[in-house]
Amino acid sequence: MTRSSAPGKVYLFGEHAVVYGEPAVPCAIERRARVGVQRRDDGKLRVHAEDLSLDGFTVEYGGSADEQPDVDVSESLVTAAMGYVDGAIEQVREVTGEEEVGFDVTIESDIPLGAGLGSSAAVVVAAIDAATRELGVELEPTEIAERAFRTEYEVQEGQASRADTFCSATGGAVRVEGEDCGSIEAPDLPLVIGFDGGAGDTGELVAGVRNLREEYPFAEDTVAAIGDVVRNGEEALEAGDLEELGRLMNFNHGLLSALGVSSRSLDSMVWGARDAGAYGAKLTGAGGGGCIVALDPTDETETALSYTPGCEETFRAELAETGVERLE
Ligand code: MEV
Repeated sequence: MTRSSAPGKVYLFGEHAVVYGEPAVPCAIERRARVGVQRRDDGKLRVHAEDLSLDGFTVEYGGSADEQPDVDVSESLVTAAMGYVDGAIEQVREVTGEEEVGFDVTIESDIPLGAGLGSSAAVVVAAIDAATRELGVELEPTEIAERAFRTEYEVQEGQASRADTFCSATGGAVRVEGEDCGSIEAPDLPLVIGFDGGAGDTGELVAGVRNLREEYPFAEDTVAAIGDVVRNGEEALEAGDLEELGRLMNFNHGLLSALGVSSRSLDSMVWGARDAGAYGAKLTGAGGGGCIVALDPTDETETALSYTPGCEETFRAELAETGVERLE
């Protein structure tokens, strides 16, 4: 058994707009997916997964389309998760030249599924690293990021940026603009997460923004305005100016809301955090449900979120300095 882990992430700025070439700044957090793999010579893929949702679940999946796993979370989420694993293994077969190889795959994750914390990117990154090493091939984090991006691109039918996968592979705070991806310096940020227990469908949400952009020139301007917020955010990050970062996060949330990707529970968590005195708060990731991220060095936001209707869980997130990690 070869095991690797990779972190989830929050977007300080720039989700959705990054799909159209604007810059984005995601930041890896210490919530990880751990993937173990063992080679099988019969070419089959068996996946055993735990804790992919808030309550956790276990699934045995033989890799065939009519074999549906019996689990207590939305079927589309599980099917999507399995699609990512299939895609990652395809990349492994291609890069190692072992086209017929199969694997037993075990996934444990403390990143809620589809909630905007980069669960799929973390699973794909860790799976590619573990499975290539199982076959005696060691890839650099940037190559893992590229292969993981191709997986997401295919599963999300061409609607993916490099942001989630690059951030998960390299760790830390990163800046992504089109094909340019790089690490950036970030101060120790007092990140607080609120989770509504739900999830959004990334493909659908990205398609919704695309439709709005096609229909209204001002929606195109809204996406471009997010790019401007991100550029200002980078300066605030460099200066370590929490007040300005918070203001810009609030602005970013407003623009995402205008693009139709927020939800009642995300908005009420954002307002719960702001009312509690957070520097700022915004949804993170594709939206539609899932998580918000707030900046607050005090305990006030966590306390307020724990009483906010619609918030199921709140926790502080530490920056993950390390991206993909080799466990054994
Ligand atoms: C999803 O985590 C982030 C989006 O910007 C899509 C992507 O960048 O691939 C909505």
